Amino acid sequence: MQPGPRLSGKVAIVTGGASGIGAETGRVFAAHGASVVLCDMQDDLGQTVAAEIVAAGGTAEYRPLDVTDEAQWTALVAAVEAKYGKVNVLGNIAGVSGRPAGQTVQASGVMTGVALTDMSLELWNRIMEVNSTGVFLGTKAVIPAMQRAGGGSIVNISSICGIVGSFANAAYHASKGSVRIFTKATAIQYARDQIRANSVHPGFVDTPMARPGLLGNESGKARMDATPLGRFGKPIDIAMGCLFLASDETSWMTGSELVIDGGMTAN
Ligand SMILES: NC(=O)c1ccc[n+]([C@@H]2O[C@H](COP(=O)([O-])OP(=O)(O)OC[C@H]3O[C@@H](n4cnc5c(N)ncnc54)[C@H](O)[C@@H]3O)[C@@H](O)[C@H]2O)c1
Repeated sequence: MQPGPRLSGKVAIVTGGASGIGAETGRVFAAHGASVVLCDMQDDLGQTVAAEIVAAGGTAEYRPLDVTDEAQWTALVAAVEAKYGKVNVLGNIAGVSGRPAGQTVQASGVMTGVALTDMSLELWNRIMEVNSTGVFLGTKAVIPAMQRAGGGSIVNISSICGIVGSFANAAYHASKGSVRIFTKATAIQYARDQIRANSVHPGFVDTPMARPGLLGNESGKARMDATPLGRFGKPIDIAMGCLFLASDETSWMTGSELVIDGGMTAN
């Protein structure tokens, strides 16, 4: 992809920036002129992504962040604002599936994940803490900075799991449904400040998180069969949607849901 002007001069914080969709979104934002602060808990991977962006001529750095920690969010936003002078874009992309390593994900008919009656409160709370509370804390932390900047764009990664149910982990569905509605509440509360908030709803995208449920098993076959466009998503498919929502091209879009799922939920 050639560098373009779609985010020229903007300062963007991207969580989950060490891997998958977050890393690709960071690359795309930088390729389109943004100064990008990648945040994650996988420090080595995050630093590698930032170095790749810089080597390609972009502006990026990596900063460690646990999205569930309010004090870390406050410190992060203060540091970014002090260094770059403003914050224009927040991509809330960090997330967890809550699936134990090695466990396959079911797509239809057969319950192979944790049934909700077997789900521990601890697992429920952990998924909600990262996927839902993390988005709240990030949003809360950047809004004052965006107000000082005269506006901004918050792009929250929900999922098709935030729109429809399935046999998959109920806590994951609940956390992503929370992101969907939280985004609309944010949009309404801060429209007067020209702060926009929109949610992105990916279908099944080949990333380290999703791969166990996509490749070489029955759930993957069922999911492929249910995807009209006949392939799983790539991180770039989602990153381009994030770019659109982050840019001024969407200056009249807020509280919206952008579904990018190969047509799966059109069925
Ligand atoms: N891949 C898919 O099929 C798919 C579909 C719909 C939605 N999503 C969502 O997209 C987002 C990105 O997922 P991905 O598929 O790229 O997976 P991924 O595992 O490649 O990336 C997720 C990143 O989030 C980071 N993270 C987890 N907990 C964190 C925390 N507490 N603080 C900071 N960072 C943390 C991880 O370290 C990881 O780098 C997630 O919110 C996920 O739920 C993914």
